[in-house]
Amino acid sequence: MKILVTAGPTREHLDPVRFLSNRSTGKMGYAIADVARLRGHDVQLISGPVSISSPASIVCSRITTAQEMHDLVLEQLPDMDVLVMCAAVADWRPCEVSRHKLKKNAMQSTLPLVRTADILEAVQRIRRPEQIIVGFAAETHDILSYARDKLDRKGMDLIVANDVSRSDAGFGADSNAVTLIDKTGAICELPLQSKHEVAKKILDWVELHAQKIHANASLR
Ligand code: C5P
Repeated sequence: MKILVTAGPTREHLDPVRFLSNRSTGKMGYAIADVARLRGHDVQLISGPVSISSPASIVCSRITTAQEMHDLVLEQLPDMDVLVMCAAVADWRPCEVSRHKLKKNAMQSTLPLVRTADILEAVQRIRRPEQIIVGFAAETHDILSYARDKLDRKGMDLIVANDVSRSDAGFGADSNAVTLIDKTGAICELPLQSKHEVAKKILDWVELHAQKIHANASLR
């Protein structure tokens, strides 16, 4: 299959030296890309700024902002069978980006922000029904109910709900503990394990789901 994976944070610049971002390191997305490649899939990675190097033989496009990730995902989506939106895309960006470093005396104590484009909401409008869309929900509380809401609202086939309040899971850790929820409401809890193991289970679900889609299509 052709699989597009997004990973890492985005950076929303205020000026050339200051930006809004988050704690994502890209480890989970890179693990998914790596496992998918090892299973023989054709993988494309779109990565925000991270310090890990791209896995060998994966085409990796580096972006900085949510808008750049949005534009590249929408451009590549028509050619894909699967999109895994693992990136921690910033939800807000400064209204204005200064070309020069702002002097602290010239800065206000409040920062005017504007919402970034929601990539999955845009994907929902142009996707084909047989494409498989997987999203993530990084939460610190009421994890499952927020995740279910995102799954419906953003039209995903599967959401990976991630408790990022734990130090041994989520941002920066090599391990993760997640719950997979699919659009039928089926739930699969994955206790603490390496991000590579979690990646394998997400891809197991994707591959099984793809088989079902093809079986249904050949019955018609
Ligand atoms: O930020 P949030 O928790 O709503 O993210 C849920 C899912 O939506 C993730 O898969 C994330 O990659 C995606 N997302 C997006 N565009 C945004 C923010 C998040 O596609 N602007």
